[in-house]
Amino acid sequence: MAPIDYRTQTALITGPSSGIGAECARQLAQRGAALVLVARRESKLKDLAGELHSRFGVSVTVIPADLGAPDASTQLAHEVARLGLTVTTLITTPASGPTARSPMRIPNALPRRYGSTWRQSSR
Ligand SMILES: NC(=O)c1ccc[n+]([C@@H]2O[C@H](COP(=O)([O-])OP(=O)(O)OC[C@H]3O[C@@H](n4cnc5c(N)ncnc54)[C@H](OP(=O)(O)O)[C@@H]3O)[C@@H](O)[C@H]2O)c1
Repeated sequence: MAPIDYRTQTALITGPSSGIGAECARQLAQRGAALVLVARRESKLKDLAGELHSRFGVSVTVIPADLGAPDASTQLAHEVARLGLTVTTLITTPASGPTARSPMRIPNALPRRYGSTWRQSSR
């Protein structure tokens, strides 16, 4: 299998305002991926977006959202479409309850680029 050229990828990460999600964002930005960051704490997301854009020159979009809310995945998909983003990689980290289940529905809700594959990490 050919190595992934992350400079062609747009990765949506849920839960990047701390912990393992923030580290995933840093690792992908370092490899040149454009990022879409989703969590509740907008100020944390904006701080991280600023850091990654200035360090790595990548495009970073912030979408504040509570993934435990009803229809969160549908609302998120609408916002992604409204912003004209095409997501090719999905990383989900929030841990429990509806917060964990909601991202599992995101792949079906998001528009999919032909030939793209989801790389999803969740439990
Ligand atoms: N950290 C590790 O080294 C590690 C290793 C192996 C497995 N894991 C597993 O990975 C998962 C995450 O661990 P972590 O250490 O990264 O946890 P964490 O630091 O608490 O991060 C959780 C992330 O989820 C977001 N989040 C929580 N509830 C949300 C909601 N309702 N809507 C949207 N975003 C929400 C939080 O952002 P907001 O509060 O801003 O919404 C935060 O960015 C856990 O299941 C853990 O067991 C972690």
